[in-house]
Parts: sequence; structure tokens; C-alpha cells
Amino acid sequence: MKKALLLMASPRAGWSDGAAETLAEILAEKGVEVRTAAVREEEIGYCRGCGACMGRGEESCSMSGDGAQRLLSEMLWADGVVILTPNYALQVPALRKNLLDRLSFVFHRPRFFGRVFMPIIAQGIYGGRGVHKYLNDTMEFWGFSPVKGAVLQGALYPNEKLSAEAAGKNREKLGAAAGRFVDALNSERPKKPSFFRLMIFRTTRSSMKHFEDALEPDRAYFKERGWFDSPYYYPVALGPHKRLFGALADAYVRRAAKKNARRILEQTNNLR
Ligand SMILES: Cc1cc2nc3c(=O)[nH]c(=O)nc-3n(C[C@H](O)[C@H](O)[C@H](O)COP(=O)(O)O)c2cc1C
Repeated sequence: MKKALLLMASPRAGWSDGAAETLAEILAEKGVEVRTAAVREEEIGYCRGCGACMGRGEESCSMSGDGAQRLLSEMLWADGVVILTPNYALQVPALRKNLLDRLSFVFHRPRFFGRVFMPIIAQGIYGGRGVHKYLNDTMEFWGFSPVKGAVLQGALYPNEKLSAEAAGKNREKLGAAAGRFVDALNSERPKKPSFFRLMIFRTTRSSMKHFEDALEPDRAYFKERGWFDSPYYYPVALGPHKRLFGALADAYVRRAAKKNARRILEQTNNLR
């Protein structure tokens, strides 16, 4: 049985929470085990920007072990995560953004490969598509395979009535999104990386391999997983163009690291 986490990001129980309820019913009917969580119900301190989680490891964060860690564990429990969020000022609410900031080390040390992500946005009038793109972009960096979700018509007050037409349209959109989500959950084929994703992987791993000042927790994380020598984060067949492209990206970074090491050596000699 596939497992899904529905993560609600509104600071109140409103339209996006309502969408979570409907989506939970649809997914359960489709045989998915569903858990829900709300960001507002967790104690999550604001990111202070010290960078300890990136530079020294996530357990070095002075707030390590609070609600951010708990939600990360919940996400790791699931085969697929759906975030249900309002559009606030053309973006996600601060609660959601803070959770992303607090878990920024996952951009450095991605861990959600083979899992599916889908955003559902409730809004008044405009901007939801930008929020949808932002959420899918960020979660793809975490390793998720993003799926097209939906932008729903909400309103400012949770007890405000939507027209029957708007409510019907929302339900239809949620149903279609649920179908795409479940199809992606059940898909066994590993997703082939785009040229962009391949370039990110190869340049990152080669930087960690060859640049002396790479962050140690990142270097260790990549090394432990065998990513210094693998074609991609997970086993996947790359065609000849992508194999060549990947090799060129590796070579470019290796050469840049050599040049950098030479420059540092020259500077050190000049100081003597
Ligand atoms: C602070 C704030 C900012 C908002 N900004 C936008 C916006 O930029 N675009 C929009 O279409 N709706 C905007 N809205 C409307 C909400 O997206 C809408 O009320 C949504 O249904 C709220 O979701 P919720 O009920 O799940 O909290 C905003 C509402 C609030 C309270």
C-alpha cells in the first residue's frame, strides 16, 4: 500500500485544509494510506541563517529536534507528499517558507529520490501558478519527482460560500490531481534526469570531490552514497548525449578545481 502525507501550510483551518480533507477521501478510495500534518501545529523556530546545518551538519542547528525535524521525518515516512497551501502575496505563507529555510540542508543533501511531490494551492484571484512552480522547483531539488497539482478557488473567509460552479470545478481539479499523483506513486520506472538536473548533479559532486573547501557534511554524504562515481543519484540508463554531457561537466569542474588549487598555492608563496 502506498503512503501519502498531506501537509497543510495555512496558518488557519481554511480552504486549503478543506481541500486536504477532500483529497484524503479521494486518495483513501484509491487505496492510498494517508496521514495529515499541519505546519501551524508544530513548534518551529525561525531560521537564524547561521548556516550550521549546512556547514557542520543538521544536528548542529541550535533548534535541532523541534517540529521541523518531526515534519521531515513524516515526509520521509511517505512515498508521496502533497502540500496544501494558500497563496499569500504571490507566494507561500511565512510558515511554509520558514520550514523550507529550516530544512535548507536538504537542498545540499537531497534524500527524496523515487518519491512523488504535488502542490495544491488555494487562492483568491491571482498568482497561484507561480506558487505551484516554486513549490515543484524546490522539491525537485530535494529529490522528489514533481507532479502537476492544482490551483483552487478559495476565498478570504473559510465559512464564505463558493458558487456551486466554483466548488464543482475545485472538486474536479482535485480529482484529476489525485489521479496524476496516484499514477506517479505507482509508476515503477526511475525518472530520467533532464540535462539541467544532470548538470546540477555532476557539477555538485565533482566540486565536492575536487575542491578542498567543499562543505564536509555534504562531501561525506555524497561519498557514503557512492555519488562520487555514479552516473546519477540513482541507477538510471543515460543515452549517449547525456553520458557525454555529464563527462564534460565533470571535466570542467575538475579543471576549475586544479586552477583554483594552483592560484591558492601561488598566493601562499607570494605571502611568504
Ligand atoms: C495575507 C494574505 C495574502 C494573500 N495574497 C493573495 C494573493 O497574492 N493572491 C491571491 O489570489 N489571493 C491571496 N490571498 C487570498 C488567499 O489566498 C485565500 O483567501 C485562500 O483561500 C486562503 O487559503 P486558506 O483558507 O487555506 O488559508 C491572500 C490572503 C491573505 C490572508
